[in-house]
Amino acid sequence: MAEYTIKVRRFQPESGEGPYWEEFNVDLEPSLAVLDGLLQAKDNEDGSLAVRCSCRAAICGSCGMKINGQSGLGCKTQIGEAQELANKKASVAGEQVENAPIVIEPMGNMPVIKDLITDMESTHWTKIRRVTPWLLPHGEPPEREYVVEPESMIDITQSMACIQCGACVSSCLSMEADPEFIGPAALAKAYRFVGDPRDAETTERLHDLADDPHGIYDCTHCFSCIDACPKGVAPMDQIMRLRRKAGEEGIEDPNAGHAHEVAFVKIIEKKGTLDEAMLVQESYAPGIKGKLKPSKRGIRETIKSLPTILRPLRKRKVKLRQAIPGTHHKLPGNAMDEVKAIYAHAEEHKEELNLYIRGEEGDDAQPDGTAAEEVPNG
Ligand code: SF4
Ligand code: SF4
Ligand code: FES
Repeated sequence: MAEYTIKVRRFQPESGEGPYWEEFNVDLEPSLAVLDGLLQAKDNEDGSLAVRCSCRAAICGSCGMKINGQSGLGCKTQIGEAQELANKKASVAGEQVENAPIVIEPMGNMPVIKDLITDMESTHWTKIRRVTPWLLPHGEPPEREYVVEPESMIDITQSMACIQCGACVSSCLSMEADPEFIGPAALAKAYRFVGDPRDAETTERLHDLADDPHGIYDCTHCFSCIDACPKGVAPMDQIMRLRRKAGEEGIEDPNAGHAHEVAFVKIIEKKGTLDEAMLVQESYAPGIKGKLKPSKRGIRETIKSLPTILRPLRKRKVKLRQAIPGTHHKLPGNAMDEVKAIYAHAEEHKEELNLYIRGEEGDDAQPDGTAAEEVPNG
């Protein structure tokens, strides 16, 4: 047994007071969970401490919370590991490094109802419903169940592992900046149906998610949701799959999200590193430099985006020289050849990564050398 101090951010709406911090001392085996510490504090010290939980086995998705600033499940985070992280953070901050308090807060990006209980309805569930989270097949349903090849379900198995805990939503930086962003959990759910061979409204779904200014192109690839997810769903990867499918369908979204991606790939291929000035131009008005023939939409979007383009200049985040297209530095030596080789390799092999497939097309082996498993219907 070891003694731990947990520092909980509390909010008791009935008191009429604002949020406050309270510390509790608990005795636990280091292998037990942070949730066990909270339940011990509730049993022994203050029965009004509110925390949501049910299975205590990382299955029900009820106990999402922030532990030492990281979103996750209280029942899946060992208190000994949480202590190590708290000590590490304290040491970085130049504070006491032995038995630093383990800081526990309610999930972010959601209103707090009481203590560690957040309102999942107003953000998480509303957004899940936003993506029509059920199958939309056409035609007469079969007499018995739909039969699909197991291989055709592999691509969506990862998104099917979601337990709707909201940890990814809590950690999403884009949602912090834009609360209307559909968000990682709902977009992972959207891919579950976009990738399902039984669904007949893939194109409509992709148009809907690409055209929405708070949709698939609102994600900034920050990886936070991948780090937070306790079930390996990797929501950001599902969003990238949605984008790729939207691109394959030729969907040109009004936010120039797809054009931005294409521009990014094109510039790196040409220059090896990102020429930010070219990125703006190529995203909104491709062709200005080479052909002096931007599209009408390109001109319209560039004018509309001028405030965004000028903001970093005004704030001196970008120097005027860096904002002039074509003045970007070149890579030294033969580094450009290596960049070209990466592009050639990716083009030739069409690499794909997910929970069940690692490697290249035609390679059935798993990372540990075993054969790929059959995927259950679902
Ligand atoms: S990768 Fe995208 S969806 Fe995931 S947390 Fe970052 S901004 Fe949000
Ligand atoms: S994607 Fe992961 S973190 Fe997000 S709700 Fe589902 S299980 Fe939780
Ligand atoms: S209590 Fe069910 S996931 Fe933690």
